[in-house]
Amino acid sequence: MSDSLKPSMPAYDRYVLVCTGKNCTRHGEGLALYEALKTKLKQRGLVDGNIKIKRSQVHCFGVCTGGPLLCVQPDGVWYYAVDDEKLDTIIEQHLVGGKPVAEWVFHE
Ligand code: FES
Repeated sequence: MSDSLKPSMPAYDRYVLVCTGKNCTRHGEGLALYEALKTKLKQRGLVDGNIKIKRSQVHCFGVCTGGPLLCVQPDGVWYYAVDDEKLDTIIEQHLVGGKPVAEWVFHE
């Protein structure tokens, strides 16, 4: 029998994963995107408002090209070449509006 405590986590609506690895972007664009996501979610009240978005960085999705890469769960939608401007659109249309931005999706 394990002595581990059962973890708990606040409820969320969507979970955004951003690759910050060095193989799909060469100059830290993934990490910059991840930090920008944090700021934008807070500014829009999407961390603990009516819509709750959780985020995490990952070191590699095993894709390693076309970054920065971003994955939205539980929708299973994967975006490529996400920049600051695209991120604003993805937040509004997908994370808030529930409709993926098809032109930047590379996998569903
Ligand atoms: S380093 Fe980003 S997917 Fe592998």
